[in-house]
Amino acid sequence: MIDLHGRHVLVTGASGRLGTAVCEALLAVGAHVLAAGRTRTRLSDLRASVGQHERLNVVEADVTDAPRLEALLEAAERRAPLDAAIHTVGAFRAGPLVDCSDEDLEILWQTNVHGAALLLRGLLRRMIPRRQGTVVVVASDAALRPSSPGAAFYGACKTAVLHLARSAAAEAAPAGVRVEVLCPGPLRTPENEAAGLAAHMRLVSTREAAAAAVSLLGGSMRASHGSVIVLPATESADPTGFR
Ligand SMILES: NC(=O)c1ccc[n+]([C@@H]2O[C@H](COP(=O)([O-])OP(=O)(O)OC[C@H]3O[C@@H](n4cnc5c(N)ncnc54)[C@H](OP(=O)(O)O)[C@@H]3O)[C@@H](O)[C@H]2O)c1
Repeated sequence: MIDLHGRHVLVTGASGRLGTAVCEALLAVGAHVLAAGRTRTRLSDLRASVGQHERLNVVEADVTDAPRLEALLEAAERRAPLDAAIHTVGAFRAGPLVDCSDEDLEILWQTNVHGAALLLRGLLRRMIPRRQGTVVVVASDAALRPSSPGAAFYGACKTAVLHLARSAAAEAAPAGVRVEVLCPGPLRTPENEAAGLAAHMRLVSTREAAAAAVSLLGGSMRASHGSVIVLPATESADPTGFR
């Protein structure tokens, strides 16, 4: 099992389903976790789910707000240099492209792509000079294939995130700084279950996806740069969802 005792890890989107599971997985392997989320009430849910923990710090941050994100990174690094970050922030809007409003397109782009660029830039500006650090960016398997109907622009944004992260990985590699990408298939969330996805595929559990994200921080993955780990939701003919 990976051991992250003494390591300081930033988790963005920590109040989300995957983000919360990532915080729990990191705490279980000894990491100090800086859990960043946008909405105070959802961060309270994170605290309630994880419980009081001396290695958990919770902060508010909107990753699309460049000055506030920069202030968060400055404050974090004053406490302890970040060894790693797992970026789980994402936004999804269901619906065919013809029905997407201008606002939908703006939110998807700003949250998924612009936010990832701001965070990666801020982290790499700090990690590259000290020649140490790892960033795991959560994209989606929608980045790798034409999206299912109703997710065209989301898929396009995740493809942009994948490109951004892999290109940043190439830029950071000479300094020994790693950028890795996790592309999960549909997660086992209430929304995906309500949409009936579990009827014909084994959805990826948040715990499984969190474990994959954390595993990218060390162990045998320590020598990799720019990996893309895909966790597909497998098609299933079995109503239990397993085969
Ligand atoms: N769910 C799936 O089936 C699935 C499949 C493949 C990939 N993914 C990807 O996996 C990641 C996590 O998904 P999830 O299902 O856990 O999503 P989620 O529960 O909706 O969580 C998303 C998180 O992102 C945060 N966020 C959104 N906009 C933000 C902003 N501008 N600044 C800071 N934080 C912001 C949300 O904060 P608030 O609490 O403030 O809203 C929330 O904590 C996403 O990148 C998603 O695209 C999801």
